[in-house]
Amino acid sequence: MFADRVLSGMRPTGRMHIGHYHGALKNWVRLQEEHECLFFAADWHALTTHYEAPENIAGSVWEMFVDWLAAGLDPTRATMFIQSRVMEHAELALLLGMMTPIGWLERVPTYKDQQQHLNDRDLSTYGFLGYPLMQGADILIYRANMVPVGEDQVSHVELVREIARRFNHIYGREHGFEDKARAAVKKLGSKKARRYEELRTAFQEKGDDAALEAARDLLNETQNLALGDRERLFGYLEGSRRVILPEPQALLTENPKVPGLDGQKMSKSYGNAILMREDPVEVNKKVRTMQTDPARVRRTDPGNPENCPVWPLHQIYSNQATRDWVAKGCTTAGIGCLECKQPVIDAIIKEQAPLHERAQKYLDDPTLVRNIVADGCERARKLADETMRDVREAMGLAYD
Ligand code: TRP
Ligand code: SF4
Repeated sequence: MFADRVLSGMRPTGRMHIGHYHGALKNWVRLQEEHECLFFAADWHALTTHYEAPENIAGSVWEMFVDWLAAGLDPTRATMFIQSRVMEHAELALLLGMMTPIGWLERVPTYKDQQQHLNDRDLSTYGFLGYPLMQGADILIYRANMVPVGEDQVSHVELVREIARRFNHIYGREHGFEDKARAAVKKLGSKKARRYEELRTAFQEKGDDAALEAARDLLNETQNLALGDRERLFGYLEGSRRVILPEPQALLTENPKVPGLDGQKMSKSYGNAILMREDPVEVNKKVRTMQTDPARVRRTDPGNPENCPVWPLHQIYSNQATRDWVAKGCTTAGIGCLECKQPVIDAIIKEQAPLHERAQKYLDDPTLVRNIVADGCERARKLADETMRDVREAMGLAYD
């Protein structure tokens, strides 16, 4: 139940670009090999900033899923679904809202930041303030412990941890907890029970974090525990409350940032993006015309890769030998910019060939994508429902 589970979401922005690919999707593809994974289109999140543009959602969602599949997400490994098709996210967001202090939301750094910077948008809404809380519901409803995100989202996961802690503190209280927890320890069997007690003591008496981790692993490996006992055993390690909603951890995606063709952040709306499945002719054209170090006006002017948006692309796409060749050739005017760009062009086209290939069957038959996502939504609903039963009960709502 609390075994490793990865969850992440993305706002639907339509076709993905190579920034999405290197910044997130490649990582997701890797994670699905090792962990249970859930990935979703955050369509409600899109409305928190763009509530006046509902007409863009449907197209963007389906385009995005095609690219997830093209990147190599495998529906037999990862569950792909749509946020708004799992209504329980909204129920949990509402319930968490009862106990989330407004100040916590106002202090999320992206809140003020975006209000200041996205001044073409109306961000003075309740939905925008509550958006990190909704993100909390997205994560906690699957009791996911690993949340791969970019740096901008780490503060949200921090907030979610605090909300989970507060929730468990308030609602994990239970009459006779100690006795029930001790009874649950016995159910582990004598060998595991002894090990559990040792680790718990090591953590509680000496603050041994490794022991706490080991004890959690032990619980994760134990299959046949009732949910209530599992919650008690997790909670008993640290205190005297059930852990109903475990705290998630952000998995920082540390891949290098991919700048746009003009050196700004890559974004389709800035018109500076190379798509994940770009026509090779377009790749060629886009990279050949992209900006370089402004100091290189003529071929004979030396440049500095640090001032050139092509350089980060070499960091991603070129090996050390090629990068050395660029650094030397650029600073001595030994190579021209078009020459310098060619290995990047070749590498992008090569990288994208299998992506085009994987996407083809979904482009030919869009119902395949619909079916994958419908299955994913159904699976997600089942998992969400398990948590909600527990949450409703803890919050006094499971009455006849
Ligand atoms: N807020 C994220 C973004 O804007 C998307 C998102 C929504 C998300 N819910 C999530 C990411 C839950 C991770 C986990 O990129
Ligand atoms: Fe940029 Fe390469 Fe031209 Fe140097 S040689 S300015 S790194 S494109």
